[in-house]
Amino acid sequence: MTSLFTGLFAKHSVQSETAPAPQPASTPKAASLPEPASASRTSSHTSSSHMPSLPQRRAEPPRVTIRDLAVAYKVNQGLLPAVEGVTLTLEPGTITGLVGESGSGKSTLAMALLNAVQPPGQITHGSVEVEGVGDVLGFGDRELREVRAATIGYVFQAAQDSLNPLERIGKQVLDLGRSHHVSDLRQLLHSFSALLSGMGLPAERILASYQHELSGGMRQRVGIAFALALQPSVLVLDEPTTALDMITQANILSIIREVHRTQGLTTLLVTHDIGVVADIADHIAVLYGGRLVEVGGTIELLRHPCHPYTRGLIRALPRLTGDIDAAQPLAGRPPTLATLPRKGCVFRDRCPIFQRDHAAICAEQTPQMRRSPDGSTFVACHFAEKIDAEGNTAGTDSGKGVVAAGAPNTPAAAGKGSQEGNAIHD
Ligand SMILES: Nc1ncnc2c1ncn2[C@@H]1O[C@H](COP(=O)(O)OP(=O)(O)O)[C@@H](O)[C@H]1O
Ligand code: SF4
Ligand SMILES: [Mg+2]
Repeated sequence: MTSLFTGLFAKHSVQSETAPAPQPASTPKAASLPEPASASRTSSHTSSSHMPSLPQRRAEPPRVTIRDLAVAYKVNQGLLPAVEGVTLTLEPGTITGLVGESGSGKSTLAMALLNAVQPPGQITHGSVEVEGVGDVLGFGDRELREVRAATIGYVFQAAQDSLNPLERIGKQVLDLGRSHHVSDLRQLLHSFSALLSGMGLPAERILASYQHELSGGMRQRVGIAFALALQPSVLVLDEPTTALDMITQANILSIIREVHRTQGLTTLLVTHDIGVVADIADHIAVLYGGRLVEVGGTIELLRHPCHPYTRGLIRALPRLTGDIDAAQPLAGRPPTLATLPRKGCVFRDRCPIFQRDHAAICAEQTPQMRRSPDGSTFVACHFAEKIDAEGNTAGTDSGKGVVAAGAPNTPAAAGKGSQEGNAIHD
């Protein structure tokens, strides 16, 4: 992954001199559709100009509004929250990156968007409103079957291994069509083939193959084609580049950018790797211990991270310029369901500010999501002002060449109101 970062940060460090000043997070949402990020980006290492063109989907992408979402798992110690108080808007036609270390609740949150959390998990609170469709969490089995795949395409974590090993890919496409009552299966195969070709795959050969006959990168692309087969308007990708080699990762990111643009999607990209979202996302949401701790436009959040956890994630990234040893791993380990604090700030055990000051409020009161001191992100931290005043040690202020400056050109995402109210309920 190091070289991908290297390319990423090299690109951004060159562009940072001419990058526009960060927009305040409260920049009003574009009344018309923001231009999809992929259309306006240049990418030195993931250029898709060589790719055959993908078939276009012409429908308008929807807004997805997640409100006060909570998911818990019933384990020996009781019903323990894995996701709590998550309020987040996926703006139409944008890519939102959901970032956090392993165990922070990313997959649980992503599955909740489909109302597909499996026992012992259960959604205990909240709503997921897909514009034009309704609150997915209120749907019955039949509606859910229709929504899954046809409205929300999902690429599962380890999708490379999620194909049926006993059936050829073509047969699995037909099975998908039949299970969704597609009347014209020939057309479905045709458009699936077009997607494969658009991703640079030999469609005929793939359709006739079993999954074990394909490389990891091919399987990931086939997984993306399956997620898009029924022309959804929302795409959720859970760790789509994990376990792939560096070149293949860059290739898959390029494809995601391209399908997002050509299919006109609202996309959620889930990853533990903030470098991946820096390269592709319009907006970033940082999750820790099942709670959102910071949300903002990609440029704003990477330039001026406010939450100590966001800063830690960024500081842990390998970088091209400056001190080669500057990357500092985040000290400590993320909490498990059993060790997650039930009140106060979930990050305090690893927070350098709390370790220094031991402020009672951090242990007693759950910080609410609010505008950061310079207004560029939304942050859940009692001491955001103090941290800001003490200096920005992860953004461009002191880390020249580290943080993305040439990423997306859409306005900052975290519009007031859409991210506020990320309350954590003790
Ligand atoms: N089936 C399950 N039963 C019990 N706990 C689970 C289950 N799935 C996930 N968890 C717990 O929920 C938390 C969030 O997990 P997950 O959503 O997979 O995180 P991430 O995708 O960020 O790695 C973790 O503490 C994990 O151990
Ligand atoms: S609320 Fe307190 S413990 Fe949590 S991140 Fe802020 S300073 Fe650290
Ligand atoms: Mg996961």
